[in-house]
Amino acid sequence: MELAMNYEVFDTPQEAAKKLAAEVAQLIRSRAAEGKGVVFGLATGATPLPFYAELIRLHKEEGLSFANVTSFNLDEYTGLPHEHKESYWYFMHHNLFDHIDIKPENVNLPCGTLAPDEIPAHCAAYEAKIKACGGLDLQILGIGRTGHIGFNEPGSDDKTITRQVTLDDLTKTDAAPAFGGFDNVPKTAITMGVATIMGAKKVRLMAWGEKKASIVKKAIQGPVTADVAASFLQKHPDAVFFLDKPAASEL
Ligand code: PGA
Repeated sequence: MELAMNYEVFDTPQEAAKKLAAEVAQLIRSRAAEGKGVVFGLATGATPLPFYAELIRLHKEEGLSFANVTSFNLDEYTGLPHEHKESYWYFMHHNLFDHIDIKPENVNLPCGTLAPDEIPAHCAAYEAKIKACGGLDLQILGIGRTGHIGFNEPGSDDKTITRQVTLDDLTKTDAAPAFGGFDNVPKTAITMGVATIMGAKKVRLMAWGEKKASIVKKAIQGPVTADVAASFLQKHPDAVFFLDKPAASEL
């Protein structure tokens, strides 16, 4: 089978985010018209911020309701309480959930503050809940410079599911400024696995800027390998990369 990743290149992140938000809005509205819900996998980081800003605008200015939406976030650091500004719980509420009408009971994130012996059961329950909700209709992704999607660092193969992982040094280096230094970055996180992500019916990955150009090239045009978790998306039947020109500059 010839593998080919679909990608689109935009002049600006805002244009890409607008197109992706329009696709998401269409999915929400078509399901609502059938009286049905829709399940999204969501991502954190700087990358999805223009996308979330556009979803908020669609809610406030164009009446897009999220009342039929269920969300599952990809990952969460371990050890950070909800009110910690770098927790993904805080990020999602601050940058999206507090500004739209999603029902709090439909929001799901891995819990980062469990005792170590509680984590395996929590991860299994997270996987089970995604399945019980009918699976992910659409998964939103960024990509780390290690090629991670979620926190699936190099070595994560396509059998991996939700679990606790150790963060790569490059990932911690990129997060260090936000935490006031490398040593303050949590050492582990809970993340959906590559198999969890590959189970989504649609996958949409965003990447902006020159810093992402070389890993974007590996993910799209390199071999499918656990060394670059995003490369597994080449095997997904409906995955699209949304790129700005600098991120696409090595393709
Ligand atoms: P970023 O992170 O959006 O902050 O660049 C992306 C990622 O690590 O997945």
